[in-house]
Amino acid sequence: MTAQTLGVVMNGVTGRMGYRQHLVRSVLAINEQGGVPLSDGSRVRLEPLLVGRDGAKLAALAERHGIARWTTDLDAALADDDFPLYFDAQLTSVREKSIVRAIDAGRHVYTEKPVAESLSGALDLARRAAEAGVKNGLVHDKLYLPGLRKLARLLESGFFGRVLSVRGEFGYWVFEGDWQPAQRPSWNYRAEDGGGIVVDMFCHWNYVLENLFGAVTAVTAKAVTHIPNRVDEQGAGYDATADDAAYAIFELEGGVIAQLNSSWCVRVHRDELVEFQVDGTLGSAVAGLHSCVVQPREATPRPVWNPDLAEAQPFRAQWQEVPDNEVFDNGFKAQWEQFVRHVVEDAPHPYDFLAGARGIRLAEAGLESSREGRRVELGDLGA
Ligand SMILES: NC(=O)c1ccc[n+]([C@@H]2O[C@H](COP(=O)([O-])OP(=O)(O)OC[C@H]3O[C@@H](n4cnc5c(N)ncnc54)[C@H](O)[C@@H]3O)[C@@H](O)[C@H]2O)c1
Repeated sequence: MTAQTLGVVMNGVTGRMGYRQHLVRSVLAINEQGGVPLSDGSRVRLEPLLVGRDGAKLAALAERHGIARWTTDLDAALADDDFPLYFDAQLTSVREKSIVRAIDAGRHVYTEKPVAESLSGALDLARRAAEAGVKNGLVHDKLYLPGLRKLARLLESGFFGRVLSVRGEFGYWVFEGDWQPAQRPSWNYRAEDGGGIVVDMFCHWNYVLENLFGAVTAVTAKAVTHIPNRVDEQGAGYDATADDAAYAIFELEGGVIAQLNSSWCVRVHRDELVEFQVDGTLGSAVAGLHSCVVQPREATPRPVWNPDLAEAQPFRAQWQEVPDNEVFDNGFKAQWEQFVRHVVEDAPHPYDFLAGARGIRLAEAGLESSREGRRVELGDLGA
């Protein structure tokens, strides 16, 4: 079998996600393993064409990784028929108009989330992609994490009985940038640049919840800006205009209640940066990025409330680790492979622009709930 090549225009590869997760750990890693395996036993190698604003940075990247092509001219890259796939990891606020150009050029599109800055923008992209007949996909990386794969396995096995609730904690302390540099880009903290933890994280929570526990039907949320002043990459102070923490309750189809805290202003007293506890009638589980522990009904202890005595039960020790039982690849790479198979041999990849639109709808509803101090029901998508 001969290996075929799929050209990919990659925009935003000088950024945190674009470089490490998508270029190095996905596209280049796929080529190192000989390409994406197809159902007929052949393989597809990926040929990246790097696009960005800074030619010097792109040239250095290309040189470092032995990549032949780079350009600062997006339209020229999109006009090249050797590159039928466009990938976008730019900062969120400039994504939509670049994707429109890619669709107009007849390119398939794979993109980081959020797909657009507004629900109407996301629906417009979904409509344009459908009309142009191009394949479209959106990063759903959390679903490919070992911890969440194990949760999916537990759900499929019926371990939980009837799932009652999901409680999740996501977050860590992001330095303000004054006495230690911040570990996230400053645009994340400016609403006018597409920042904010609701826009960032509710897109993830939407697909995690709808794929594991049920579609979100209503949200009650409080979004806040705990740290109003930060210091940027150049050492200049700026006003943080975007929310940096959100406390939310999501009601799901089928009656499950999910309660998720998202915060860049919290210090970690957990085993992982995100953890979900799922409680069901027959058992419970706590899953992080990698690990997952369970406690079945039969092994549930019998706590008795007595504030006069120090706790004698070793609660954490009463859970059992779920074994890997398989090799988990890097989730970003696994999804790239799935999307490439979708493009090349029409294999299933359900995580499209409409899925992205549902994520943005949840973010918009969460912000509306917070602003107006009320529960917001999610109606039809309006697609
Ligand atoms: N899937 C995930 O878990 C995850 C995690 C973090 C970020 N993201 C998403 O990835 C995207 C990039 O985030 P990041 O943290 O890598 O940001 P970043 O700031 O590190 O990178 C942004 C990229 O966009 C480019 N860029 C910046 N300003 C631009 C402009 N005005 N015009 C064109 N290009 C511009 C930069 O040169 C850089 O290549 C965001 O949309 C974010 O929501 C996803």
